[in-house]
Amino acid sequence: MRVRNKPWAPKLINAHPELITETPTDYRGKWQSRFEKAQPLQIEVGSGKGQFIIEMAKRHPEINYIAIEIQTSVIAVILRKLVDEPLPNLQLAHADGQAVTAFFEPNEVDRLYLNFSDPWPKKRHAKRRLTYKSFLAGYQDVLKPNGQIEFKTDNRGLFEFSLTSMNNFGMAFEQVWLDLHADETVEDNVETEYEQKFSQFGPIYKIIATFKSEK
Ligand SMILES: C[S@@+](CC[C@H](N)C(=O)[O-])C[C@H]1O[C@@H](n2cnc3c(N)ncnc32)[C@H](O)[C@@H]1O
Repeated sequence: MRVRNKPWAPKLINAHPELITETPTDYRGKWQSRFEKAQPLQIEVGSGKGQFIIEMAKRHPEINYIAIEIQTSVIAVILRKLVDEPLPNLQLAHADGQAVTAFFEPNEVDRLYLNFSDPWPKKRHAKRRLTYKSFLAGYQDVLKPNGQIEFKTDNRGLFEFSLTSMNNFGMAFEQVWLDLHADETVEDNVETEYEQKFSQFGPIYKIIATFKSEK
């Protein structure tokens, strides 16, 4: 996601340590202390401007959510929305999702969302894709046994790569959609910014997968 630099972003981030952290390693194993109530924890890696995670937090007050986003000017947009309308079950982490195992203890996370991750189409950049095997290993570590990954994309190449990568990692596919929006039985889909923008140009692919093997 390319966004214009927002000179106000670092100041806003520094002013709201109750909503956002830039040192998520400090909360490893202690994330529940940042929320009003201890309850199941779900995280999104690469939240963009936060439309999905904010709507999820509103619809599911019984779940705690963490949005992890690497770009300062992007996570600041989510933060600005939260400052205007705080949600007791949503926290932000300005960080690189590659380091999830440094941010969460094993089994601390119940579900992980990847929405419209950067496709990195060049083969030599495959290791940067958020469904590359090294990322999957990190997700497996922090997710509870049978914890799910929910992955959506409009990018066919990334979808095919992710199916193969998850399969080679030994994950079980609970459900796969080749055209999510054409499935009238899906009633609870929460659209992301990218999904709203790009679904007019082609299908949205979705995978729900779990790690099968014992840790
Ligand atoms: C294409 S955008 C999609 C945003 C949003 N999920 C949506 O669907 O509208 C991908 C986002 O992932 C973020 N991102 C990419 N790599 C990341 C990483 N390693 N850790 C955290 N965020 C990352 C980017 O900064 C960008 O905001």
